[in-house]
Amino acid sequence: MPEFNDVWTDKMLTGVEHIDAHHRHLVKLLVDACNASEAGSPPGAAREILSELVSYTKYHFAAEERLMMEIKYPRLKEQREAHRWFTEELNGHFLTISGKDGMLAAQVFVFLREWYAEHILKHDIDIGIFMRSDS
Ligand SMILES: [Fe+2]
Ligand SMILES: [Fe+2]
Repeated sequence: MPEFNDVWTDKMLTGVEHIDAHHRHLVKLLVDACNASEAGSPPGAAREILSELVSYTKYHFAAEERLMMEIKYPRLKEQREAHRWFTEELNGHFLTISGKDGMLAAQVFVFLREWYAEHILKHDIDIGIFMRSDS
């Protein structure tokens, strides 16, 4: 059973308060979805958390893109493309497969975990750096 700190590391902190709160919540939902897929969990629990993960991801991407527009972030386009790609993956086969029986398959968990961690560490971190250098 993964725990929050198996996915989260403070290296993921961007220094932008609401973005960091979103990221922590996303990691929590991801870990909860995985744990709710374990045998013995109430049926439908994982599916419910997964759909929350999907809608929260969309909410977060929109908020992050709004912030990048406000600060005139130079790599907005790149971020937008990454967000769009991931949203399509989420809407597509990964969650269809995992959502069918309300289970989050192990390989789906690994894919989601790695994407979120890498995206935050490689892309979102730079938003905070840009904001601090700009002021
Ligand atoms: Fe992002
Ligand atoms: Fe983000």
